[in-house]
Amino acid sequence: MKDKKILVTGGLGFIGSHIVDELIEENKVIIIDNKSTGKVENLKYPYHENLLIIEKDLNDVDLEELLNGIDYIFHLAAMANVPLSIDDPIKCNEVNVDATVKLLIAAKNNNVKKIVFSSSCAVYGNNTNMPLKETELVCPTSPYGASKAICEIYLKTFYESYGLNYNALRYFNVFGPKQDKNSQYAAVIPNFISELLEGGQPEIYGDGEQTRDFVFVKDIVKANIAAAESDYNGIVNVASGEKITINELYEIITNTLGYDVEAKYLPERKGDIKHSLADVSNMKQINYEIDFKDFESQLKETINWFKTK
Ligand SMILES: NC(=O)c1ccc[n+]([C@@H]2O[C@H](COP(=O)([O-])OP(=O)(O)OC[C@H]3O[C@@H](n4cnc5c(N)ncnc54)[C@H](O)[C@@H]3O)[C@@H](O)[C@H]2O)c1
Repeated sequence: MKDKKILVTGGLGFIGSHIVDELIEENKVIIIDNKSTGKVENLKYPYHENLLIIEKDLNDVDLEELLNGIDYIFHLAAMANVPLSIDDPIKCNEVNVDATVKLLIAAKNNNVKKIVFSSSCAVYGNNTNMPLKETELVCPTSPYGASKAICEIYLKTFYESYGLNYNALRYFNVFGPKQDKNSQYAAVIPNFISELLEGGQPEIYGDGEQTRDFVFVKDIVKANIAAAESDYNGIVNVASGEKITINELYEIITNTLGYDVEAKYLPERKGDIKHSLADVSNMKQINYEIDFKDFESQLKETINWFKTK
């Protein structure tokens, strides 16, 4: 992607900042981010001449004016946190759904070429028909999952009603540099790595034989750009399509670090799903493919980043 004018909502967050880093040298980028979880330090070039950062809530920005001349939108700003969404579903709806509808209206009024929306495997909720295809029933189990499913319906509706092009990318378990290790809801990979580096004993819930489908953040970036450039409109799982147990993951991380630390096994967490696996065949629609054989080197890159923190 080159010489385009791009809006990245949530561009100071974990995934959004990687997208901005990739685009900034050859495109004009506007970020809207209220810094609720994101930070300017996530950006490789926070003062780049091609960059404008609007530090505001998406609900408080005059989008009609701002979207004038924008080619593509990567929409990531969200309450990206399941427990918080359960505590405050109204706030979750305001941030995740209301702001998205306002963005869609401004996008169609400004003839934006395409909007690429960050959706989530949380829309599948307790649907256990693995590997999960995009045509499977959505069965969210949290306001967060519901908000993503509702946004997907709005995206399709705006495509059908006004011809606004879109992709909703359903990310599975994303990992990589810049992922928040301090959050009380930190994901399993940053949790294991930071706990081990700090001399602690990582915790595994249940017997560790639960499986997940991990995807590297740089693959998420490439999938977003490929989606924007593709002619396909619709929903696409973005995942490796490979399952790995938490025990296997733990072993790879301890081996890579050269640590011999036993994990502490705790009772299963209520509501945790046993298995999660994507059918990734639809990724060819956006001309993108993920190679899982890079998993160990991607973990190494992630570990090296955590070592610098
Ligand atoms: N990380 C994952 O594993 C994962 C998986 C599936 C989907 N997603 C989705 O990808 C997107 C990015 O996730 P992330 O992991 O980078 O999370 P993140 O919390 O690091 O990024 C979200 C960004 O949005 C900003 N933001 C939040 N509410 C805002 C608002 N009202 N106005 C303006 N900015 C706001 C935050 O400050 C932050 O910079 C989210 O939409 C999330 O739901 C993430």
